[in-house]
Amino acid sequence: MVSRIGILTGGGDCPGLNAAIRAVVRRADQANVLTFGFRAGWKGVLDLEVDQLTLSTTRGLLHRGGTILGTSRVDPYREPNGVERIREALEVHRLDGLVVIGGEGTLSAATRLTEEGIPIVGIPKTIDNDVAATELTIGFLTAVRTATEAVDRLHSTAESHNRVMVLEVMGRHAGWIATYSGMAGGADAILIPEVPFDIDAVGRHLKHRAGSGRDFSIVVVAEGALPLDGTLEIEEPPKDEFGRPRLGGIGHAIAHEIETRTGFPARVTILGHVQRGGSPTAMDRVLATQMGVKAAELAIDSRWGQMTAFQNHAVVPVPLAEATARLKTVPASLYHVAETFFG
Ligand code: F6P
Repeated sequence: MVSRIGILTGGGDCPGLNAAIRAVVRRADQANVLTFGFRAGWKGVLDLEVDQLTLSTTRGLLHRGGTILGTSRVDPYREPNGVERIREALEVHRLDGLVVIGGEGTLSAATRLTEEGIPIVGIPKTIDNDVAATELTIGFLTAVRTATEAVDRLHSTAESHNRVMVLEVMGRHAGWIATYSGMAGGADAILIPEVPFDIDAVGRHLKHRAGSGRDFSIVVVAEGALPLDGTLEIEEPPKDEFGRPRLGGIGHAIAHEIETRTGFPARVTILGHVQRGGSPTAMDRVLATQMGVKAAELAIDSRWGQMTAFQNHAVVPVPLAEATARLKTVPASLYHVAETFFG
């Protein structure tokens, strides 16, 4: 019988993590299962940094952004004896298993660990919304709200100055935030990693708009958007401490090229980590709560190797391996709808 579980948050933070932690602790407590929170993702498991979480230490968390546990991008498969140290952590703290709240990187490690016999239940979170098998990840809808508000604000100033406003949003491999906020805010072009862009076509479209009396434009670009082969040189981004490209800045290149091609003045806003901060929307709080409760129930029932997924308005278990087998990108049908307004 399960009596003690661990919990961690890994990868980039996002709004809604605390609501998920609160829900896991609350549901586990109902079943007399104790919950132990590891500090800073897998790092805390490897270094045995852990504190017991109780109803009183997880009160008042629903509306709070960030994660009370802290997070990191440490990957146990890149650390010396990572898997053995995780097994040891479970033994030392007499844990029956782990609830792992993470995005694609953290959940991929969780899938491999599960295959090696480590009992894990996953909860998907990332503002990028690119985890497969779930229609939504925790944090995405709050980031969309923030980005949409930015588009709305840029609209009025763009209109006053007759400018092109380029808004760069996050989205490393998938353009979910760009597509949703661009559609919601009525952007005049949306550039995403899934659809390589033609900067000449963007310039022509903005000129055409101006020709029909619209003297300002909004372009929303995902940080991971790529030009069509051979059409535009984009500088290689520097690497972060984990060897991943540190994205952010493509908006400048796009604004420069638009100015050169159209002669219209352009300005750039890089929204950056503002999208990851702040209080979660009501929907993210509800999603995180549903997922937290379901994850606790899966752990209580020893149904390891599963991830909570939002499908058809319900939270259901799916195999972790299914969720991490591929990335969930923006479908052509959705982008087609967006394009109706700028294509
Ligand atoms: O993985 C989510 C994400 O928000 C990406 O869109 C972005 O590239 C990345 O995190 C940036 O993360 P950090 O600056 O924390 O390394």
